[in-house]
Amino acid sequence: MTAEPSPLAEYLAAHFAPEDAALAAVRTGHRDADLPTIHISAAEGAILQMLIRLLGARRVLEVGTLGGYSGIWLARGLAPGGRLITIEGDEGHAAHARAAFERAGVADRVDLRCGEARDTMASLDGPFDAIFLDADKAPLPEYLDLSLRLLRVGGLLLCDNTFMDGRIADPDADGADLRGMREFNRRMAADRRFTTAVIPVRDGLLAAVRVAP
Ligand SMILES: C[S@@+](CC[C@H](N)C(=O)[O-])C[C@H]1O[C@@H](n2cnc3c(N)ncnc32)[C@H](O)[C@@H]1O
Repeated sequence: MTAEPSPLAEYLAAHFAPEDAALAAVRTGHRDADLPTIHISAAEGAILQMLIRLLGARRVLEVGTLGGYSGIWLARGLAPGGRLITIEGDEGHAAHARAAFERAGVADRVDLRCGEARDTMASLDGPFDAIFLDADKAPLPEYLDLSLRLLRVGGLLLCDNTFMDGRIADPDADGADLRGMREFNRRMAADRRFTTAVIPVRDGLLAAVRVAP
């Protein structure tokens, strides 16, 4: 679900989302390590980091770690003393992510939980300042229910891949992932407890501020 690089995307990344050596190594390392290259883009990472910093976030939850690329952007946006909990179900991915967090100098701020997203989310206590959903898409409505228990009022719910490679708006496209995303989007658009917008970066990033319990 990673869009093809374009000159415009490259211009924006070079100016507003420069990667240091650690971030670049994690991204390029996905190919060498046979990890799927379904991580966020640098431009999306910069937006996530800016939003986390704007919030002054001290407790952030990420669902779907992969090799740690988005986790590094998030962890670097935390307020002093802040902590990122990131959930990953695949032990191989988690091992790569742990090494990436070490190399990026954020391991002291990151708590990687290797386990099934649903169970791990259910085991956590809130409140979180921000939650970034970026794992499997079919259970997104359940992840929303779990997030409602964890996210504080004034906190930010973020979800990647709103566009589903453009299939979200194709009436002939179907599948469990697409149905999960459609139901999640439908609920987010209608839920008055959130002020929601979609940032059209890469494959679409939904960002919603919780305005009511
Ligand atoms: C799109 S990738 C995450 C990319 C990462 N956020 C980034 O941008 O660098 C999705 C990750 O979620 C994990 N995942 C998918 N379904 C999961 C589940 N039910 N529980 C835990 N992890 C899951 C996958 O193994 C994969 O590593």
